[in-house]
Formats: sequence, structure tokens, C-alpha cells
Amino acid sequence: MSWIKVCKTDDVPENSVKKFWAGGGTIPLVIARHKNGYRAMPPVCPHMEEPLDVSGVVAGCVLTCTKHLWAWNLETLELQGEAEKPLKTYDVKIEGEDVMAFISEELVYEFDDEDDMDDDDFFNS
Ligand code: FES
Repeated sequence: MSWIKVCKTDDVPENSVKKFWAGGGTIPLVIARHKNGYRAMPPVCPHMEEPLDVSGVVAGCVLTCTKHLWAWNLETLELQGEAEKPLKTYDVKIEGEDVMAFISEELVYEFDDEDDMDDDDFFNS
């Protein structure tokens, strides 16, 4: 695949995360708009697969998954807060009013059972 139009720049207000389907509706992804631009990434948190368009909050350049407070700087991709795994991202460019993502294959995270902890475990640990 190649550069694919995902949405219009105005479809994603600043400080928000929205879900889209690319590749003819076969590849789910979210676009996060931060203070200085856009990031495209798989639609789930790399921690426990929370849907980032629901659990993700953007403030300034930082995306936080509110489920267990894993966070990342969307500009530098540095891990912040409680994050233990990096975000996977698609390259993004803006062409006119279009947000384009470079998609050669669907990016997915591997989840292992060790991370299987529910909210009670988290708040009691
Ligand atoms: S599921 Fe996102 S921080 Fe745990």
C-alpha cells in the first residue's frame, strides 16, 4: 500500500482522538491531533487493548490512556507516565485539507497474558 487519505484535517479537533478505517475499510486506525500536528496509530492501547478513541485523552502533545494512565508524547513518541510499551505509528502528512497516512501493512500489538490485570488488581497493587 502507500499514502492513503484517512480524513480531513477538520474531522479531528485539536486535543482529540478519532477512529477511522483505511485501506477500503479493512484497516482500523485512530488519528490523534495534538498541539503541533497529527499522529496515526492502531486503534487500541498497547497495554490492554482499550479503544483509544474512547480511553485516549490528548493534552498539549501528550496522549494518555485513561484506563491505567499509560501516556506518550505524540511529538517525540517518548514514553510518559506509566507507559511500558511504545506506540506504533503510521507516518502522517497533510496534503491540503487531507490527513494522509502511509500504510504498508496493518500495525498490531502483541498482548501477552501477563498483562492480564483487571481494574481491581491495578488499584489494589
Ligand atoms: S489499557 Fe491503556 S493504559 Fe491500560
